[in-house]
Amino acid sequence: CQKTFTLNNGNKIPAVGLGTWQSGEENDTVYRAVKAALADGYRHIDTAMMYGNEAEVGRGIRDGLKESGLKRSDIFVTTKLATIHARPTHVPKAFEDSLAKLDIEYIDLYMMHWPIAMNPATGQLVPLKPDGSRDIDEELEGKFELTWGAMEKLLDTGKVKNIGVANFAIPNLERLLKTAKVVPAVNQVELHPYLPQTKLVDFCKSKGIHTSAYSPLGSSQSTLLQDQTLAKIAEAHKKSIAQILISWGITRSSVLPKSVNPERIAANIETVDLTEEEIKAINDISKTTTKRFVKPAWGVPVFDEDFE
Ligand code: A2P
Repeated sequence: CQKTFTLNNGNKIPAVGLGTWQSGEENDTVYRAVKAALADGYRHIDTAMMYGNEAEVGRGIRDGLKESGLKRSDIFVTTKLATIHARPTHVPKAFEDSLAKLDIEYIDLYMMHWPIAMNPATGQLVPLKPDGSRDIDEELEGKFELTWGAMEKLLDTGKVKNIGVANFAIPNLERLLKTAKVVPAVNQVELHPYLPQTKLVDFCKSKGIHTSAYSPLGSSQSTLLQDQTLAKIAEAHKKSIAQILISWGITRSSVLPKSVNPERIAANIETVDLTEEEIKAINDISKTTTKRFVKPAWGVPVFDEDFE
């Protein structure tokens, strides 16, 4: 699927990209996945400092470009600012570290990974406290506007083409937009038929913010892949449920399915055109079944339902 979406600055983002969360670094797993994806026609690779795999993803991109005869400008690469680097003074260094690990000249999209600031002194991932909360950076928590201001300055370096956010709910976006000089190009959030987040997607659209879907298959514990409505539509198209989920996803956002399996990587980029009735049937699934698969206990409101 070579479809693209146009961002609010005129740049384009491919409709399907390879997700790499939980892809692992060992045994060349994510390296091979990235190379396979580029050979199969993927033009967007999504990673993050917090996934701990930027070096291997970068190596896969560089070798994949060589082997597929592609130019750097043919592809779109996203990485994300870790929560422990939310302090404005940390942002330039964190960006340079990601770029150095990826080693791919520039980043197409740099995102604030969460509207959360963690204490950098306590390490990579701050452990859950006995009460289920986390040790969040008190000095900066809730001041993602400051982090965003530092990210805006990165655009002047020419080493990043677009900046965006991830996991931003409507109240947080409204707040950010009050002071933002640059409207985020993208908001990357969990999206699939059990969590269509239509209000959030529509809100983003009204502000010129493109939405991108992570965990479009429902992540690793998914019950979506057994859904009966989806199974019927998949049968009608002689496609898999995963392919139907991705085909539905790209009718409303870009989509980032994760896989490290060569057959599934190849299959996930083969989308079909769904009929209006099929799209409506899939839209209706969340009337009876809703589930957020990725819900870290940050200890502060993050998702739209946390603010209700
Ligand atoms: P694997 O990497 O072994 O293929 P999401 O993109 O929603 O995060 O979902 C990723 C999960 O779905 C992973 O566990 C991945 O496993 C699995 N997966 C990816 N593509 C497919 C597919 N086409 N069919 C079934 N499972 C898939």
